[in-house]
Amino acid sequence: MPSHSPRNMLVTGGAGFIGSAYVRLALADPRLERLTVLDKLTYAGNRANLDGVAGDPRFHFVQGDIADPAAVRTCLTGIDTVVNFAAETHVDRSIQDASSFVLTDVYGLHILLEASRSAGVERILHVSTDEVYGHVEHGSSSEDDCLLPRSPYAASKAGGDLLARAYFVTHGLPVVITRGSNTFGPRQYPEKLMPLFITNALDGLPVPVYGDGLQIREWISVDDHCRGIHTALTLGVPGNIYNVGSGHARTNLEVTLRILDLCGRGPDLIQHVEDRKAHDRRYSIDCTKLMSLGWHPERGLEPALAETVAWYKENQNWWRPLRGRADFVEHYQRTYKGTSTQ
Ligand code: NAD
Ligand code: TYD
Repeated sequence: MPSHSPRNMLVTGGAGFIGSAYVRLALADPRLERLTVLDKLTYAGNRANLDGVAGDPRFHFVQGDIADPAAVRTCLTGIDTVVNFAAETHVDRSIQDASSFVLTDVYGLHILLEASRSAGVERILHVSTDEVYGHVEHGSSSEDDCLLPRSPYAASKAGGDLLARAYFVTHGLPVVITRGSNTFGPRQYPEKLMPLFITNALDGLPVPVYGDGLQIREWISVDDHCRGIHTALTLGVPGNIYNVGSGHARTNLEVTLRILDLCGRGPDLIQHVEDRKAHDRRYSIDCTKLMSLGWHPERGLEPALAETVAWYKENQNWWRPLRGRADFVEHYQRTYKGTSTQ
């Protein structure tokens, strides 16, 4: 299969955590002629995430919804390559209200797939997640395992993932899908475990560990995840799915203790709180297939975590305003039953 070389890209959800890191990676290639970000700027989207590329004449930003056919159609003019990061992404929010998840992660993706088909794009990569496999008690999930999502977030992502594959099978749309594991790094909205616990710890606030904290996640640095996505986009075969993981499996308690230590705090800040409903105990993915394309994770968990903590220490002007916003405070109080964010 010849490699695919993007020239004119549309990156949806490019103002979010992983999408903005991917935009920086893609623009580092001088062969790329133009890159447009289409992002709705939900609570999780942040123009500041793209500050570093704002001066690049090849970069363009459009605020809009992937579920809006007219907006998507306009953005697709002249595009040969689409990479879709746009999604509602937080499990706890999906437990509280799944509507926006179904609208964006399933219906929005449907609009994007339909418009990409009409526009005749050469390649579309859909970013999915290891959570579509559901809880894995033993061993590791491979790409042809069945999907058994257990949270509304994972179920909406699984719906989108299957729809994307169906567009390849039915219409021949050149779709590639990646299923990445838990990702961490700079610019992650402070509702997910790592940025929430780091920013709480820096302020000396308790860190809310769900249940016994022995749930296992496979942590991948955002740089390794983005390189994996780019490898699948450029070297992957349409119609195929590629897991993107790191092999760095840790319990939440192990990660929490390390974060507290890096923030100069002790285990006394750990507060065990009521467990998340239907909390998946363990995820683990087999990445042999993506590795056969030449990709492998490069970042050790320990140095990447230390760099991440250092980034949040040094970039308080990025996260303090986010934590001060009404939507963050409401989410926090709803999720952690009235606990204060200060
Ligand atoms: P994020 O929540 O930080 O960013 C999502 C972005 O999508 C935001 O900029 C938001 O404004 C935008 N968006 C949301 N709805 C939109 C819509 N309808 N139209 C246009 N833009 C919209 O998410 P993230 O952590 O960067 O995740 C990106 C993708 O990677 C998601 O598809 C997610 O499911 C997947 N993923 C994430 C992880 C992880 O650990 N964070 C792991 C595996 C896969
Ligand atoms: P999260 O970052 O929300 O990612 P996901 O649920 O998509 O894996 O959570 C990672 C793990 O951390 C998960 O097992 C839930 C747990 N967790 C807590 O214990 N406390 C928290 O406040 C949060 C946000 C997560």
